[in-house]
Amino acid sequence: MSKWLLADNLVRLADDRAKPASEGNRRFHERRCGEGRKRINMKTRIIGTGSCLPETVVTNDDLSKLMDTSDEWISSRTGIRERHLVKEETTASMSVEAAKRAMENAGVTAEDLDLIILGTVSPDFVTPACACEVQAAIGAHRAVAFDINAACSGFMFALNIANAYIQAGIYKTALILGAETLSKIVDWEDRSTCVLFGDGAGAAVVCADENCGMLAFDQGSDGTKGEVLACPGRANNNPLVKTYQKMPYVHMDGQEVYKFAVTTVPASLQKTIEAAGLAPDDIDYFALHQANIRIIQSVSKRLRITEDKFPVSLDHCGNISAASVPILLDEMNRKGLLKPGMKVALSGFGGGLTWASAVIEW
Ligand code: COA
Repeated sequence: MSKWLLADNLVRLADDRAKPASEGNRRFHERRCGEGRKRINMKTRIIGTGSCLPETVVTNDDLSKLMDTSDEWISSRTGIRERHLVKEETTASMSVEAAKRAMENAGVTAEDLDLIILGTVSPDFVTPACACEVQAAIGAHRAVAFDINAACSGFMFALNIANAYIQAGIYKTALILGAETLSKIVDWEDRSTCVLFGDGAGAAVVCADENCGMLAFDQGSDGTKGEVLACPGRANNNPLVKTYQKMPYVHMDGQEVYKFAVTTVPASLQKTIEAAGLAPDDIDYFALHQANIRIIQSVSKRLRITEDKFPVSLDHCGNISAASVPILLDEMNRKGLLKPGMKVALSGFGGGLTWASAVIEW
C-alpha cells in the first residue's frame, strides 16, 4: 500500500474506532461515496509494457520431424508458424525479464510498485507464487504479490483486479503479468494440442490516472464447461489413498473451445464497447488472446471490423495462454502502433472456462 494512503487510512480507522458505531458507519460511507468519489473516478492506465520470449524457436517443420504433422496442417488450421520453447528459462525468469522491461518502459522503479499480480497455469512452484519470485528478484519490497489462475484470461483478470484496487483507492501502481511455460504441461505425444502452444511472459505497469485509462470491463466464468480445456493437478495421495498417477497433461476438446470462443468473445467485446459509450468502429485496435487466427477472423467478421485492426503475434508465438495478450500489447507498443487517445479493446478467453474484455484509452 502506498505511504500516503496507508497513513490516511490508519488515521481514519483510529478516528472511527473512537466514535460511536453509527458515526463510524457514516464516516465509512462518506469515505466510499463522498470523498472516495474522487478516487473512484481514477482510471487504470497502462503506462509501460514488456515481454520476454525464450531464445529457442521451433518451427512447424521442426515439429513435423518429431511427430506426424505438417506445416500445412498447423498453419492452415491455426495460423501458427513457429513458437518459442524454453530450455534454461523458467516461468519466473521470463516474468522477471518482462517485468524489468515494462518498468523501464513505464519509467517506474520497483520501489514504486504497490501490487504485483501474475496470471499463470504453469508456475515453477505450487508455493511460493511466481509473483513473489518476481517481487524478490526485482526488489519490490513494498508490493503485495500473488498469482491467479484464470488460464488464457489470466492477464485480463489481473488487469481487472488491479483496476478494482486502484478504483477503491487502495493502491496506485501495479505490475501485472501473464507468464507461461506451457511446453512442460502439454503432452508431446498428443499432436492435436502440443503444436498449438508456446512459452513466454508479458507484463504491464498500470497506475491511477485522472484522465485516461480503462473505460469499461467485462468478465465471466463458466465452470460447468471446465472439462473442455483442462489439466489435472496432483491426485489424492496419503496413507489412506495410494494413487499411482501418470503425469497429468493438458487435454482439450478443440471444437468445443472453438465454439465457445467465437460466440463468447464477440458478445463480451460488444458489451464492453457499449459500456464504454463507444461503437466497434470507434476502436483503433483489438488485441485478442492469440489462440487461433480463425477465431480472430470470426470475431472480426461478427463485429464487422476489418482484420487490419486485429494485430497478430500467434504466427511467431503460438498460444501462450495468460501471456498472449500482454506480449501482443508489448509488440504493438514497441512498434509505435499505440498513440495517446487511441481506443484499444482487449480480450482474453480460455480454460475455466473464463473470458474477460476491456476497453482502454491509451
Ligand atoms: N497434424 C496433423 N493432423 C492432425 C493434427 C496435427 N497436429 N492434430 C489433429 N490432426 C488430425 C486429427 O487426428 C483428425 O484426423 P482424422 O480426421 O483422421 O481423425 C484431423 O486432423 C481433424 O482433427 P480435428 O480435431 O477435427 O481438427 P479441427 O479442424 O477441429 O482443428 C483445432 C483442430 C485444435 C485447430 C481447432 O479445433 C481449434 O482451433 N480449436 C480451438 C482450440 C483453441 O484455440 N484452444 C485454446 C483456447 S484458449
